[in-house]
Amino acid sequence: MTDPRAQQAQRTRQTRRPRQPLFSVDDCERMPARQVHDLYRQYVSRAQVSLLGSFGFGQDLVDHAEGCWITLRDGRRILDFTGGIGVLNHGHNHPRLLAARRRFADRRVMEVHKNFLSPYVAALSHNLARLLPGDLSISYFPNSGAEAVEGAVKLAYKYHRGHRGTVLHSDISFHGKLLGAGSLTASPEVDFPYPGLPGTDHFAYDDPESFALALERHRTGDGGSDVYAVVLEPFSASSVRACSAEFLYEVRRLCTERDIVLIFDEVYTGWGRTGTLFHFMRHPGLLPDVLTTSKSFGGGKASISGYVAREPVFRAAYDNLADATLHSTTYYGFGEETATALEAVAVAVEDDYPARAVRIGERLGDGLADLAARHRALVSGTCGQGALHGLFLNDGNPALDRLLRLVPSSFVRDPRARRKLITAAVIASLYRDFGVLAYYGSNHGLPLIASPPLVAGETEVELFLQALDSVLEQGAGRLLARFAKDVLAQQVPVRGKEAREQAVAR
Ligand SMILES: Cc1ncc(COP(=O)(O)O)c(C=O)c1O
Repeated sequence: MTDPRAQQAQRTRQTRRPRQPLFSVDDCERMPARQVHDLYRQYVSRAQVSLLGSFGFGQDLVDHAEGCWITLRDGRRILDFTGGIGVLNHGHNHPRLLAARRRFADRRVMEVHKNFLSPYVAALSHNLARLLPGDLSISYFPNSGAEAVEGAVKLAYKYHRGHRGTVLHSDISFHGKLLGAGSLTASPEVDFPYPGLPGTDHFAYDDPESFALALERHRTGDGGSDVYAVVLEPFSASSVRACSAEFLYEVRRLCTERDIVLIFDEVYTGWGRTGTLFHFMRHPGLLPDVLTTSKSFGGGKASISGYVAREPVFRAAYDNLADATLHSTTYYGFGEETATALEAVAVAVEDDYPARAVRIGERLGDGLADLAARHRALVSGTCGQGALHGLFLNDGNPALDRLLRLVPSSFVRDPRARRKLITAAVIASLYRDFGVLAYYGSNHGLPLIASPPLVAGETEVELFLQALDSVLEQGAGRLLARFAKDVLAQQVPVRGKEAREQAVAR
């Protein structure tokens, strides 16, 4: 068909009448798991379906979730010990957050225009300034953690009027996966050489000498510094490691001395997770120039993040008419998100989430240490603070050699393949046999992470520890054989049917 009018008419017909009817929200509520799988494979990501399947989660759909518990479509209840990977300090669907959102919708509050000032943005900024120490008082609210980090880095660059060109991060950093934040992320999870921010360099986490050397590398001829910002997680959630107080104070001292903007990334650890409102706040007098937050800032209901800057840093960078709109995104400071965050912050403060994290941590820390002592062959160590703990599994078991024959060679080349398999086998058994959801950290060591919602009580912590005890009791050989038979063999493309059958049979 060459007639342009006929082509246009056909395009219009195709747009108006899709070949298949469009799905509605109603359809989603009734959609069977098989169909969701098929649609994911066709329209979202086949690899994602395989990946989830390799942990055994892929077959289930969630009906609803409340507090620490997820109820599946078939009625089974799952104890969610992932804490939504930092998002769910308040648990699923906290009633106060649901009410705040309902009220916002019922009042038909206007969310869209930036022509009017928002009382919600004003109040949220004020509340953060009241809760944070020093002059950390000026906020900006985008939607994701990576956007908050990138906003903070841009602010630092502008603070130095573009005269400095280096930004430092640690060797185990996780700051997000956008191009900019990704280039500051050293986690092996993000190891494709995308282009990124120019002028990045790194130092060893929690190593004062390495940090001092990194600064020296970027000393300028006149004795000044080319470093405009240092981005650091005072507690690395992906490897469950904290910086020592000495290191943090030294980093602060050197940054002050050289007028470098120090950014603490507490996207994961904010709002009580490790036992203080923000992790850095356990160290008296310690103050970053910019703090980033997200995840539980939205109470598990709103996609909101933020950076909070010290007043002089923000004012120097943006506080003039010419630069007032230099940094923004369409959805920043959106109404319902900020209203939800106001309520999420209020709940975290009123219900003393830091104290809850400490209480959970006391039992969790002792319980995990006890399990490590009793299952020495399988567990190499534990660590953590507050309600964020990791359990490291031994990857020296010979049963892993057999399992490695099953998986694609691209996976075997990953130096962390053995650790991934043993940790995934434990996570799969926790889920399948005991209805407990856990995950592993993306960073070196790949710890199995226990990060329950801070609304978890003693019962939930005990349930988790008992389930983990029973899983570890099985021993590596049995765990791995079952993992290969029940999960991996069905989900991951294997090297050959024969190899699979032989390995599973042994
Ligand atoms: C410490 C830290 N910073 C930044 C991010 C990125 O956040 P987002 O995934 O919302 O972009 C994460 C996400 O896990 C994080 O843990």
